[in-house]
Amino acid sequence: MAVITIPDQNQTLTDRQAITQYLSGIGIDYECWDLSRVPSNASADEVLAAYSNEIDELKKRGGYVTADVIDVNQNTAGLEVMLAKFNREHWHDEDEVRFIIHGRGVFHIHPSEGDVVAIEVEAGDLIRVPKGTWHWFNLCETREIRAIRLFQDPAGWAPNYTETGVDAGYQPLCFGSSFIPTPSSNAL
Ligand SMILES: [Fe+2]
Repeated sequence: MAVITIPDQNQTLTDRQAITQYLSGIGIDYECWDLSRVPSNASADEVLAAYSNEIDELKKRGGYVTADVIDVNQNTAGLEVMLAKFNREHWHDEDEVRFIIHGRGVFHIHPSEGDVVAIEVEAGDLIRVPKGTWHWFNLCETREIRAIRLFQDPAGWAPNYTETGVDAGYQPLCFGSSFIPTPSSNAL
């Protein structure tokens, strides 16, 4: 399950309901999906087939027309160039929808009102960043992620950079599965 931090408030949320509620307040949809249907190394076609009902439902809900599986790791050719495109603050002309199958990464969201939020996603997490939302993305230390992507129009997914430099003020810290929250860290 995801962990979210709001660095400017020195706040961390690890409770599913609290995370869903906070993200909803800044326009981000968050869900947890059951991952037991296919092993993490299943082929892209097997993954898409296993989650076809959910994908169809999302397509209906958000007007998405295609889905694919992105699979990157430290052996992926051009990984640094690819990551450098998305680790600066940007927005897209369409929603960014990701269901994480394997690996970890951090989405930073910069809401139009409110503090920057870091969302560390892992297997089972579905996140929808609406079009126009300012955000950036980093991989965690293992530098790998596998995710289902949905598109309204793949051509609209190119990044538009804000060039605010805000991203430079936030470290892409990953807690990983070993993260143990302190009792006060769930306080809203
Ligand atoms: Fe993006």
